[in-house]
Formats: sequence, structure tokens, C-alpha cells
Amino acid sequence: MKKEHSENRRSALKKIGVSMGLMAMSPIVLSQETTSNKKRKRLLKVAHITDIHMRPELDAPNRFKNCMKEIKAHDVDFFLNGGDTIYAADYGDITRDRVLEQWSIWNELKSEFKGYELHSCLGNHDMWWAAPDKTDPMYGKEYVVKNLGIPKRYYSFKKKDWYFLILDSNNKNAGSLDEEQRVWLEKELLEMPKGVHVLVMTHYPILGVSTIPYGGNHSDSKYISKLFYKHKDKNIHCISGHMHLLDQAVYNDVNYYCNGSMSGYWWGDGDADSAGKCWYHETPPGYSIIELFDDGSLKNTYYPHAY
Ligand SMILES: [Fe+2]
Repeated sequence: MKKEHSENRRSALKKIGVSMGLMAMSPIVLSQETTSNKKRKRLLKVAHITDIHMRPELDAPNRFKNCMKEIKAHDVDFFLNGGDTIYAADYGDITRDRVLEQWSIWNELKSEFKGYELHSCLGNHDMWWAAPDKTDPMYGKEYVVKNLGIPKRYYSFKKKDWYFLILDSNNKNAGSLDEEQRVWLEKELLEMPKGVHVLVMTHYPILGVSTIPYGGNHSDSKYISKLFYKHKDKNIHCISGHMHLLDQAVYNDVNYYCNGSMSGYWWGDGDADSAGKCWYHETPPGYSIIELFDDGSLKNTYYPHAY
């Protein structure tokens, strides 16, 4: 197993290094390779990018474009975007112009995803709650749903033999699921055939490790983990962002990956706690490549980027 890992690592590094003319940092494989199934077949390869925090400052749009070039060299099938797509619209002093400016950059950058599907979820910084009133077309979640080009604030889709559940964590006692979403999620899981493979994406971690020192965990993890336990016939994996930190938790056979962030220290150089330039604490900015297999196993690899 170890050898296979290091060889994969070397060849991936070589491929990226060659394509970008750069020496990339070693990727970090988060998955516990619990499977002994040597015959498993990879069905999908997906990029999980999160906490992009797009902003006009610090040359963020061009740095993002460089990241995209690097990610596309991995030959992924499609993209998952874990929220906090724009820098911040949620603070009380954010003006309409500032919100428009951030989304217009993002809307221009969508051309970077040409030829790929992009499935996004809502992050806590994406919503403009300071709109003059609730009837304002830019107020709250609907405007974000429109800018992200997603069907609804939560939704599902299926690719090959994998089910994808995209949730909205941004509710009371954030992160949490609201009642309407709980009813929907329970029904979705009930209607899936036995033994299927499921990847759940949220913004806030449903269960995390970095959330113990720093906060930011779903406040309803007891409810969600008990719901998952009712479906222990299924292979369930969860991915999240929000923390800008990289961690992995396993509970009741469900894997929870918190996949760092694209923006690291919000594209800034960092602070006294940053272990490297642009890092947030000990996590470098980066993106994850997730390989999904036919036996319900998954390999989650975090690639630090140097932009
Ligand atoms: Fe964030």
C-alpha cells in the first residue's frame, strides 16, 4: 500500500511539475486506505475546491486562474465547490457595490470551468444579510443560488454509481440543517437503494477534528451521525471546508474530510500563527482530488498550491 502511494505521489507530482514548470509541494493523502480490494475500479475523479474567497485585492483572480490550470492537469471529471466562493458579503458594513464587485469577478471566472460541471454549495460568507430589506433581490440565499448557478440551496445528483448530496449548513446555530432540509435528507437517503455509495458536501464540517480547538463544527452532528447510522448499509463519505484547515475524522464508519481552502489566509500572507506564507495555522492553501471507486471506497488527496 505504502509503495503504491509513494509511486502515485511521485507520478502525480511529476505530471503537475512538468505541466506547470513548478516543483509542487508533496500532496497529502488523507484517506485511510481501509480497503484490501485490489480489484477496485476508479469510477470518478473529482476536484473539491473550497473557500475560494474571491476578491479583487492581492491579485486573487489571476492566482486562482493559475490554480485552475494546475487542477485541470489532474484530468478531473467535474468540480465540487464547498462555499465561501466570494471573500465576504455577510458583514454588517458591506455595501451593495462591494457585493456586486465580488460576484462579478466570480461570474467572469466561471469561464475557467468551461467543459466541466461545477456543483457548489453555500458558504457563510456568501450571503448579503445587510441588504436594505428582505425583498431586495440581492438579499440572502436566493441571490447566491443564482450566482452559483445551482438548482436550489440544497440538492442531489448521481454520477456513475455515486450519489452526491449537496447541503446548506447555513442555518440557525450554524452550521446546521433546518427542518425542511432534514425532511428532504431523510427522504433522499430512504429512497436510495441499499448499499449505495454517497458523497455529502457541506460548508461547515459535520464532524471535525480542527473544530475542537477552533470551533465551527455543525451543531447538529448528533442528529446527522445518527441518521447516517440508520443507513450503515451505505458507504457514506463527507467533505467540507469552512475551517481553512485540513483534517479527517472517522465515526461509525463514515469518513469526514475537511479539505483546507483554496485561499489559505484569504489570499493574504498570513499572521504569526501561519506555519508558512499564505497558510492558515498549519494548513497551506490547496485543493483536493477525490477518487471514487466502484466498491464505495474513496481516496482524498490534498494538493497544496504555490500561488
Ligand atoms: Fe472560509
